Amino acid sequence: MSLQQFLGIELPIIQAPMAGSQGSALAIAVASAGGLGSLPCALLSPQAMREELTALKAQARRPFNVNFFCHAPPAVSEEREALWRAALSPYYKEYGIDASAISTGPGRAPFSIANTDLLSEFKPAVVSFHFGLPAPELLARVRALGAKILASATTVAEALWLEAQGVDAIIAQGAEAGGHRGIFLTEDPTTQVGTFALLPQIAKRVRVPVIAAGGIADARGVAAAMALGAAGVQIGTAYLLCPEATTSAVHRAALKSEAASHTAITNVFTGRLARGIVNRIMRELGPISNIAPAFPLAAAAVLPLRAKAESAGSGDFSSLWSGQNASGCREIPAAQLTRELAGQ
Ligand SMILES: Cc1cc2nc3c(=O)[nH]c(=O)nc-3n(C[C@H](O)[C@H](O)[C@H](O)COP(=O)(O)O)c2cc1C
Repeated sequence: MSLQQFLGIELPIIQAPMAGSQGSALAIAVASAGGLGSLPCALLSPQAMREELTALKAQARRPFNVNFFCHAPPAVSEEREALWRAALSPYYKEYGIDASAISTGPGRAPFSIANTDLLSEFKPAVVSFHFGLPAPELLARVRALGAKILASATTVAEALWLEAQGVDAIIAQGAEAGGHRGIFLTEDPTTQVGTFALLPQIAKRVRVPVIAAGGIADARGVAAAMALGAAGVQIGTAYLLCPEATTSAVHRAALKSEAASHTAITNVFTGRLARGIVNRIMRELGPISNIAPAFPLAAAAVLPLRAKAESAGSGDFSSLWSGQNASGCREIPAAQLTRELAGQ
């Protein structure tokens, strides 16, 4: 059975969930072209999640994917937080920010039992997870709703682990990919390889369908991934300039500029590895910082800087997530982009 038949879609194209850069509008547009649209929930309040799911259900009228992060919430380390704020203090001074008024807090909640209750109202065809999987009892609830379960693997070991937990398909996320790395069994960055190294190795070892992600930006890239054993592709960066995406002005400007040819994997925005366009905070404190608090705690102290800088038109403190191949980013409707990616 093809991935399309398995997921109830027409094209083997999954629009990657991109928290902070899109809501239901992008997913609806992709679904209208026959691809699988995705709704990222990592940054949504329960109320916003309900609104987006309501819009998606009413307007997509086709299968869609709902995506969650499923990290274990970290213990707060006062010491680490203090070190992080000290590292950021020159910037607070520069922007006139009162550091004592900045709250600490998670910002990104992992998948929870409340989420399963909400999903039971909307019954999505597909649910995907990043950073491993939720606890077995939560996963069983999702499965009981009839949803197909997808999750990202960044190594062969992660793919084998996900298959053993019974996922329905594995997203092989190569190192080129924009945004957070799904890495969850190790913290060793030397395990992170490119899509065309990772994909055939995973495809050889698992029986479930494999979806290629990372660096795919046009129909030839899609065809190449299929030739290496992918049953479909998951594409993020190429959708970021579509009018239906909510990509910020500074992010759009960076993607359209020469800056987009300089990306790096960094942990300075959230505490977890993610690929973005190199900017001031990445250059000066990273790209990898050994004092950034654990995911997602690093984010709270950076957010006020981001807000101030963005209001002055600067992306110096913004997470400008992008994969290594931004050449597919075009300001065209997402439905058209989806068809073109499928070679239509
Ligand atoms: C702006 C942005 C945000 C992302 N946010 C998420 C997310 O919320 N959940 C997720 O599973 N993956 C997320 N990703 C990773 C994608 O699922 C996917 O692995 C990646 O976009 C594929 O590589 P590409 O960007 O080169 O197409 C994000 C990627 C980008 C570019």
